[in-house]
Amino acid sequence: GDVFTFDPGFTSTASCQSSITYIDGDLGELLHRGYPIDELADKSHYLEVCYLLLYGELPTAAQLEDFETRVTRHTMLHEQMQYFFRGFRRDAHPMAIMVGVVGAMSAFYHDSTDISDPWQREVAAIRMIAKMPTIAAWAYKYSIGQPFVYPRNNLDYAANFLHMCFAVPSEEYVVDPILAKAMDRIMMLHADHEQNASTSTVRLAGSSGANPFASIAAGIACLWGPAHGGANQACLEMLRQIGTVDNIPEYIKRAKDKDDPFRLMGFGHRVYKNFDPRAKVMKESADEVLNLLGIEDNETLKVAKELERIALEDEFFVEKKLYPNVDFYSGIILEAMGFPTSMFTPIFALSRTVGWISQWKEMIGDPQQKIGRPRQLYTGAPRRSYSEVEDR
Ligand code: CMC
Repeated sequence: GDVFTFDPGFTSTASCQSSITYIDGDLGELLHRGYPIDELADKSHYLEVCYLLLYGELPTAAQLEDFETRVTRHTMLHEQMQYFFRGFRRDAHPMAIMVGVVGAMSAFYHDSTDISDPWQREVAAIRMIAKMPTIAAWAYKYSIGQPFVYPRNNLDYAANFLHMCFAVPSEEYVVDPILAKAMDRIMMLHADHEQNASTSTVRLAGSSGANPFASIAAGIACLWGPAHGGANQACLEMLRQIGTVDNIPEYIKRAKDKDDPFRLMGFGHRVYKNFDPRAKVMKESADEVLNLLGIEDNETLKVAKELERIALEDEFFVEKKLYPNVDFYSGIILEAMGFPTSMFTPIFALSRTVGWISQWKEMIGDPQQKIGRPRQLYTGAPRRSYSEVEDR
């Protein structure tokens, strides 16, 4: 029969050509369209990075203004979509709500589901970037029994998201600029990461010609897992469970034990065999935000730093090249902002939406692209004859 390369987990298979994001795992380097992530995190802002990922170049002032206006015009959700939220149990995980509501978008915005039309593809991309914060914020509001808060288009992207999450009709809510800036930076650090599991899922779903809303709903489902985007929630829960610095050695011991399934969440990466450059920025950000908010002696941050210190000196982690990844410090910032752990992965999802849609757009425009269709090594029964039920 046919001969195939066996590569479970795709550790050595390039599934596409892409000009969006570059990672050097040994150096711990991440570039978007050639620009280093730490420079972008320092000097740029989320919507500018969105433009860069989508269109390949940094925008001029006029292009940026036009882009921001286009995104801003699409932040509202069709009023009817509220029924989707209301159909869920209040204790539903917000990621479950997001998978459902984003999947339902193709039923509301069919005027941007014809993928053969470049204009419709463009509108779908803008809609997705614009509406995802509203969807995530409403999933949160629904879970705590508060009324949905409509988007405010005079606020910037990150500030508007915080407004929709934390404003209530009975009180004046002013977004803290420190928090808005920190939120914006978290969004930038999650914007894209080449062919990770959820992005590959979006590409694979989209390769059949499925519409972009359906394809991204598939990506959200994939992101949810604790080995991927779900790690930020799992990591903070782990840090809380460790509780105090004194308990760290016990958990390090468990992580090293082959017979114990426990892993240090927020540690290790398929591609980075060095510090995840996003984790470096996130660590500085965590310090800065807690300082600016006047939160001193944060026990979780103390545990995180000490855990990192001990692990980086431990032979097991050094040998296996396990370093903190993006999910290690993000939860500490999000918690300080007032988010429950269940909202960490939805925030990852809304930030990654631009990466998914940029990669999807690139794929649709690529003449080499075919439907994604992996093969297998068959290990089942050889050909045999059917036996009647009374003969079995
Ligand atoms: N704690 C303890 N041991 C680990 C860890 C960890 N976090 N990560 C990997 N190892 C060990 C693993 O047991 C294996 O050992 P051995 O070779 O003796 O069997 C070795 O290191 C290689 O691990 P792997 O699972 O084969 O590597 P992978 O590339 O398939 O997995 C990973 C990468 C990120 C899924 C994994 O490191 C992990 O589960 N980390 C914890 C979850 C996490 O933080 N995920 C977030 C990833 S970054 C952002 C994102 O995608 O959201």
